[in-house]
Amino acid sequence: MSTLVTPRSDWQDLERSAILVVDDEAGIREVVSRCLELDGHRVLQAPDLPTARELLRQHDVLVVLCDLTIGPGQNGLDLLSELAEQRVDLDVLIMTANSDVPSAVEALKRGAYDYLCKPFPLEVLRAAVSRALERRRLRLKARMLEVLENRRLADEENLEQFLVSMANVIDAKSRFTAKHSLRVSELARLFGEALGYDPGRCELVALGGRLHDIGKLGTPDAILDKPGPLTREEFAIMQLHPVIGDELLAPIKNLAALRPMVRWHHESLDGQGYPDRLAGHEIPEEAWVVKVADYWEAITAMRPYRDPMPLEKAVSCLRGEAGTHIPRELVETFLTAIQHAPLALPSGRATTPVAPAAAAGPAPIPPSAGSAGATAAS
Ligand SMILES: [Fe+2]
Ligand SMILES: [Fe+2]
Repeated sequence: MSTLVTPRSDWQDLERSAILVVDDEAGIREVVSRCLELDGHRVLQAPDLPTARELLRQHDVLVVLCDLTIGPGQNGLDLLSELAEQRVDLDVLIMTANSDVPSAVEALKRGAYDYLCKPFPLEVLRAAVSRALERRRLRLKARMLEVLENRRLADEENLEQFLVSMANVIDAKSRFTAKHSLRVSELARLFGEALGYDPGRCELVALGGRLHDIGKLGTPDAILDKPGPLTREEFAIMQLHPVIGDELLAPIKNLAALRPMVRWHHESLDGQGYPDRLAGHEIPEEAWVVKVADYWEAITAMRPYRDPMPLEKAVSCLRGEAGTHIPRELVETFLTAIQHAPLALPSGRATTPVAPAAAAGPAPIPPSAGSAGATAAS
């Protein structure tokens, strides 16, 4: 079977589209057409099904008014079946004699929008056509909104992919931060799961971990690549990266939930962090998740200028942050979460499991990863 209608654009002007009247009685076609033309519609007429099919192929038709019985061997139900088979998005109004209501009901079952019993007042015809056109407008509007939404999501997805690529660039451009963001992302997801986050929130903190240092795109390579501790001036420049990252994300509405993790992953419980010197409950939990993952990654990763911190020492370091820089309960939850996670082990090497809190003896507390004296790799 050949294609019944030419594919139409969703954006086409409805006013340019036509209404097709199919009836073998010329008098009825004329009356119906005249009435609709007076209302400003463009009307096409077909005395039989072959002509109707040809007009549907040649013209952009919005609504079909079709007689149920169109001469010998021709039936409006056939047209309905053809339209349904080809998934043509058209509203069909069936015109039928009063005595043929069962056939009209059958037409509704086959996809007709409505039926009119002859003879019908012209007002009833106008109202039925108006309803069909309004329905059509709403469908087109819904489809247009769907297309726009899909495009917006695709654009945002592309942008997200672009930012992740940029995070890869940051990881790759400095030999000291290789895979830092990737590992922070995995640790943040693990931590989120341990905190009972749903999959969407776990995904959010994982992406926050991936992008947390995106602002380092604005940090000079000489500082990023410096193997030893930073000077006060260099550290001041390094401290700008959460703000730069936040400003990068600010115009992207869809990524607004990531901004606290990017901007505040170097804040501290005691209000001595940066850039905004937030304290305690001012810092959202997602930012803590990324901060802890970032801290852990920084001390347990292999760097060209030092070995990863041994596990027991790393645990002591993190516990040393508890209560002053990081909420105590989050530290313990994190340590529990990474107990059996190979990705959390220093440089990924197998070693002894994380000791429970009670078994951990006093340990020296090194400077916070967010304090002066830190390297560029946190
Ligand atoms: Fe950072
Ligand atoms: Fe970091």
